[in-house]
Order: sequence, then C-alpha cells, then structure tokens
Amino acid sequence: MKKYSELVITDLKAAAKALSNDALVAIPTETVYGLAANAFSENAIDKIYQTKNRPQTNPLIVHLHNFEQLPKVAKTIPKEVELLAAHFWPGPLTVVLEKSDAISTKVTAGKNTVAVRVPNHELTLALLRSLAFPLVAPSANKSNHISPTCPQHVFNSLKEYSPLILDGGICSKGIESTIIGFENHKPTIYRLGSISKEAIEAVLGTSVQLANHEVSSIAPGMQKKHYAPRTPFISCTNLQEELKKYPNKKIGVLFFTENPLAKQMLHYRILSSSGCVEEAMANLYKMMHELDELELDVILSELAPEKGVGASINDRLTRASS
Ligand code: TXA
Ligand code: MG
Repeated sequence: MKKYSELVITDLKAAAKALSNDALVAIPTETVYGLAANAFSENAIDKIYQTKNRPQTNPLIVHLHNFEQLPKVAKTIPKEVELLAAHFWPGPLTVVLEKSDAISTKVTAGKNTVAVRVPNHELTLALLRSLAFPLVAPSANKSNHISPTCPQHVFNSLKEYSPLILDGGICSKGIESTIIGFENHKPTIYRLGSISKEAIEAVLGTSVQLANHEVSSIAPGMQKKHYAPRTPFISCTNLQEELKKYPNKKIGVLFFTENPLAKQMLHYRILSSSGCVEEAMANLYKMMHELDELELDVILSELAPEKGVGASINDRLTRASS
C-alpha cells in the first residue's frame, strides 16, 4: 500500500501516461472526484468495477472536453441537448443519449444509451484535451459510500488500490452532476444534482419531470440506499423530537443552518450559517465525511428548504438515511 504523498500528483503528463496504460487515475471535477479510465478500453473499464466493487448493472458517465466531441459517443443529438450544452457545459449536467458504436456496452452496462458530460475543471479539461480517448469516471469511492470532494477522501476510500490522484483541490459544487434523459422525447431528470430542476426548466422553457426510481430502472445507480456514511444516519423534519429518541447515545447533528439546539450538542456541523443552499451543497459531503469519522452512534440531519438545489441536498440526505 502506498502513502498519500506518493499517490497525489499535479503532473498531467504522469496522469495521461497512466491512463494510456489502462491504469485508473482519480481526477478532480467541479462536482466530486472521479475514478477515471480510458472509455475505449474494456480492460481499463473492468478495473473500475473491481476497484469500486460496483455492480456490473450500473453504467458509467463518459467525460469529454467539449460539445464538439459528442458525435463520437452519441448517435443522435436532440435539439434540447444542444440548448442545454450551450448553457451548462462545461458544467455539472449529464445527458443520456443513444450510444454510438464506439461506446462499449461495458460502459453502459448493456444499455443502448450512454451518459455524457463535459466537466468544469481546468486540470481535468487539460488532461482530456491531451488524450486520444474520452474518460469514463464514476465517483472515486467504494460503491454506495459518500462521494469524495477532496484528494484525502479519495485516498481514504481507495488506498488499498493505490490509484494516482490528480490534485485539483476541493470540488466547488460538492455533489454529483444532474442527469437528464429524453425518453419518448420527454425531458426527465434521472438524478438531481448540482444543477436544479428549475434552472433546467428555465433553459428548456418547459417543465421537466423527475424519474420515479421506485418503478423505473433507467438509472440503476439510484436505488434508495446510496451515498451513505458508515454511521447510522437519519434525516428528519423535527430534529428536537428525533433527538429525544437517543438518550445516552453519542449523537452527531448536521444542521442546515444556525440553530439554538447546537448549544446542547457536542458533535455537529452547520451546512450554511446564512442558509444558502449552494453553500450547504458544497459543504454536504465534506461534513458528512467529518461526522462519519467521529465514531458516533448516530448522525441526525435536518432537511434543507426544498427549492433549487435544496431538493438535491434532500435527495442525498434521504438516500443516506434509508
Ligand atoms: O458528477 C458526476 O456525475 C460524477 C463526476 C465524477 O463526473 N460522476 C458520478 O458517477 O457521479 P457515478 O458513476 O457515481 O454515477 C453515475 C450515475 C449512476 O447513477 C448511473 O446509474 C447513471 O449515472 N447512468 C450512467 N449511465 C446511464 C445511462 N445510460 N442511463 C441512465 N443512467 C445512467
Ligand atoms: Mg457515485
């Protein structure tokens, strides 16, 4: 097992060389760190599934350095996607399209659709420009755990596999991309993420539905339990009442904003003192990781206001607590 200092690099050439040799490299994006591999190498893709202990049924997102590359990986590009890409790329929006023949079904877990985005991080864009292939990159953590938002999180989750970690600092958005598909020409959000439903509707000029993952398996990564800390995690609407259920327990609380109850708590974090949902989103995983490391009996969390990316925060809190 290698040390943190041996794995964390800033040298793009070293990262490119490793990827060209079918090794995995953790890469920074504006959302979370990704565990990247050559999207055109089945051998490299296999390593992702093994390393993450990811179910073979859960497809990967392809990362490109610009919109012009899209025809290489997708067969048809609907007008809505041109519009969305012009507005949000590079950025945290993933679109699901009919895959091209260049994309292996190893990437798509057997589906004929492929998920694609252009990440907004200078280092990773420069890396992608230097490569002759796109990168597939799921979040750089063991399957079902909390996604990493800094190199240390990646190291903590994957150190036994010793992937190189390209250091791009702390992820500015802090939760995964929003995923949208166009089945039967109806724009449908498969995963809420760092772009809100409202922001997408404003660009498309039409309302967008949320996929019901209880009945659909379009995005197999959206099963109920996901993004979970190791510590039992409970999100609730009435924190005061919930706290009463755990006398003599070592409790941690994740407050959305300033709260008088914090005075009684030994272990807590506040997502945003000013109640700003964007700031809360950027802090969410970092603070979940921090509380998870305190060996607590239980972590209780308050929900965010259900507007804008507040809905995405609540999606993650609810999944973590199921
Ligand atoms: O922000 C992000 O999207 C990050 C960074 C690294 O780019 N990546 C990420 O990847 O979150 P991952 O593998 O943790 O989540 C990918 C999600 C899964 O829920 C998967 O089921 C869904 O994308 N997905 C991938 N291909 C799909 C497809 N063809 N149709 C529907 N959903 C798909
Ligand atoms: Mg993930």
